[in-house]
Amino acid sequence: MSGRTADGATGPVGAGRLADVPAPRVVLGVGGGIAAYKAADLLRRFSESGHDVTVVPTRAALHFVGAATWAALSGKPVSAEVWDDVADVPHVRLGQQADLVVVAPATADLLARAAAGLADDLLANVLLTARCPVVMVPAMHTEMWQHPATQANVAALRARGVVVLDPAVGRLTGADSGPGRLPEPAAIFAACREVLAGRSADLLGRTVLVSAGGTREHLDPVRFLGNRSSGKQGYALATTAAARGARVVLVSANVALPDPAGATVVRVTSAEDLRRAVLAHSADADAVVMAAAVADFRPVAVEVHKIKKDDAGGVPAPIALERTADVLAEVVARRDAAGSAQVVVGFAAETGDAEGGVLDHGRAKLARKGCDLLVVNEVGAGRGFETDDNEVVVLGADGSATEVARAAKEAIADAVWDRVVALLPPPVGT
Ligand code: CTP
Repeated sequence: MSGRTADGATGPVGAGRLADVPAPRVVLGVGGGIAAYKAADLLRRFSESGHDVTVVPTRAALHFVGAATWAALSGKPVSAEVWDDVADVPHVRLGQQADLVVVAPATADLLARAAAGLADDLLANVLLTARCPVVMVPAMHTEMWQHPATQANVAALRARGVVVLDPAVGRLTGADSGPGRLPEPAAIFAACREVLAGRSADLLGRTVLVSAGGTREHLDPVRFLGNRSSGKQGYALATTAAARGARVVLVSANVALPDPAGATVVRVTSAEDLRRAVLAHSADADAVVMAAAVADFRPVAVEVHKIKKDDAGGVPAPIALERTADVLAEVVARRDAAGSAQVVVGFAAETGDAEGGVLDHGRAKLARKGCDLLVVNEVGAGRGFETDDNEVVVLGADGSATEVARAAKEAIADAVWDRVVALLPPPVGT
């Protein structure tokens, strides 16, 4: 792939890219859906990070966003037809030369045409001639998405190695809402970056559950005991797993980030909500990654009304706390009782103390929890929480310790999935 730097890292990082490495060539296919306007944001993200982008809309897409917009934003001529610039043979050249084809939004019609191998417009030709990774990002009404014909087309495309992200759940055109919404451009872009890096298929056919964020235990209707987890690491795990082909359930506790492309997001508030959601959705998962910071204690009683201060200046009553369930340990116990090969991963944010260093605590926790891997990071000023990068050691139940040097949380996530993939049994049918 022409987008690789000499050291094997991906090229599309603007300032960090070597001058003699050609910009990765991306064909951005745009289907005829109302979400076509969001593809302009995706285009900007690709161009601003050093990609060479050619936009290929369908005829229907041009009803929503005109060719002038795409030409101005990409700096290149735009056509939906195979009959323009025929001497240049664009219907073959564009697909052959691309490093990545991403179609967003991919309508039901476009998925059907791609699955059937039709060649009735320029984008369909690009999809037939492309030998690079192809990412399709569906957006349509829920009924169309859930229709057996669409699901069969998606299954056929996935079986051929196309990365078809699941649509997001949310407000659709008009008053209705449900699965069918185009994931946020930032999330699509992150997924595409993973695919460009060549990590697109090793979780294909797998289901993973990731928990992210930090739980909140209410004291009264306005106050809670919480923690500083931003959810960035868990969201990066979900994004990268989806980009590597997994079906992803993301149990998200109080996170203010856009939904990762391709993940089904289950929102929770408290440790008990999270426990129920994780247990409900993880029984058949191939891997469970508990990146959420789960409260260990909760108030024994939650006041129905807001707690008032005592105007006489009295000292507030102490808050009685009780233990919450250990979700990770429950997942491990259920896995062991079922004799399943599920890979279970815990996270531990540690500080060293008089009892031992960060890794000593990590090894003890790994043994105590019974998980297969424990991702340990040292927390302290500017480390771990709310930051975009991280530095971890992945401890294995087999005694291994994999150091992952400071890197973006997506890169940390990929290192975790690399270890998970190594522990998964071979996929059924191989
Ligand atoms: N965890 C969990 N349920 C809890 C608490 C934690 O599933 N009630 C999970 C976290 O998601 C994480 C791992 O356990 O993957 C370790 O979390 P941590 O808070 O470090 O573990 P604790 O057992 O609470 O250890 P400590 O006493 O150090 O807080």
